[in-house]
Amino acid sequence: MHTLLLVDDDPDVLATLTRSFRKGYITLSATGGEEAIAFLNDHPVDLIICDQRMPNISGDQVLSHALQVQPEAIRILLTGYADVESLLTCVNEAHIYKYVTKPWDPGELNLTVVRALESLVLKRDLETARTHLEAAYQDAVVMLCLAAEGKDLDTSSHLYRVQDYTEALALRMGVDNKAAAHMGLMSMLHDIGKLATPDAILKKPDKLTAEEWEIMREHPLAGVRILGNNPFYEMAREICAGHHENYDGSGYPNNVKGEDIPLSARIVKLADVFDALTTKRPYKEPWPMETALTHIESHSGLMFDPATVKELNNLFIDGTLTRIKEAH
Ligand SMILES: [Fe+2]
Repeated sequence: MHTLLLVDDDPDVLATLTRSFRKGYITLSATGGEEAIAFLNDHPVDLIICDQRMPNISGDQVLSHALQVQPEAIRILLTGYADVESLLTCVNEAHIYKYVTKPWDPGELNLTVVRALESLVLKRDLETARTHLEAAYQDAVVMLCLAAEGKDLDTSSHLYRVQDYTEALALRMGVDNKAAAHMGLMSMLHDIGKLATPDAILKKPDKLTAEEWEIMREHPLAGVRILGNNPFYEMAREICAGHHENYDGSGYPNNVKGEDIPLSARIVKLADVFDALTTKRPYKEPWPMETALTHIESHSGLMFDPATVKELNNLFIDGTLTRIKEAH
């Protein structure tokens, strides 16, 4: 059942409104702007019907406040006179759903409320569907990466560390929270192109021949192909294509240089190399973080974007790198 907040300083009007909506709704009432605002701060409502002309705090101020604290709640203004200015304020600043002039037609107001709440339900359903879809995409990324491990690609703990290093670096580079989390998730796909690399090369214990290296170097663009055209994977395609490019243009596959390499790829490259250096591999012991950072620093501006190197150092200083390593 939906909850309506009815606000009017006139007790008779408030009583009439309450009577109109007594069936099928939970109705709550406030006799002034202060009371309505205090109520909205603590209680979720689905719809507010608010009188414009009230002492101290006007209807547009109440509805503007509602927009801040409960943006989803439908806002309807009741106005007893043709005050164009306050209506404009209400439309522009409180984003009201509708204004209704006094005296109102009860049937019409009822219908307005029914339609407004139908649109609210639809919006919530869409939001739920969007959340489920996003979760399904995220699960698909993790499943694809874990399935790829069967082909002896990187271990899941490496992928999760790269994800966290990437997200932390992105935040340091000024990327907003949501985009940084997305970049972290997409980083897990950086080597997915190795699914197309023959096992004889991928698992060869000896040094690769020049010809085999050529095949190995095809994995960035193979990853782009595997990820297809879905817009959700656009950043993953950037990362696949760019994570072996070098800042000075000496990388592969396209010899892209400097900031022409997407930020996501510059970040993931650093996260990937840092993790490779600081973990045990069949051919080496893990390096201490300080040694890895010194090594990376010596390649700043050559392999790596100096700005990302600087932020990696900051993440070491504030303990983030250690926390991530210990978490996985
Ligand atoms: Fe790679």
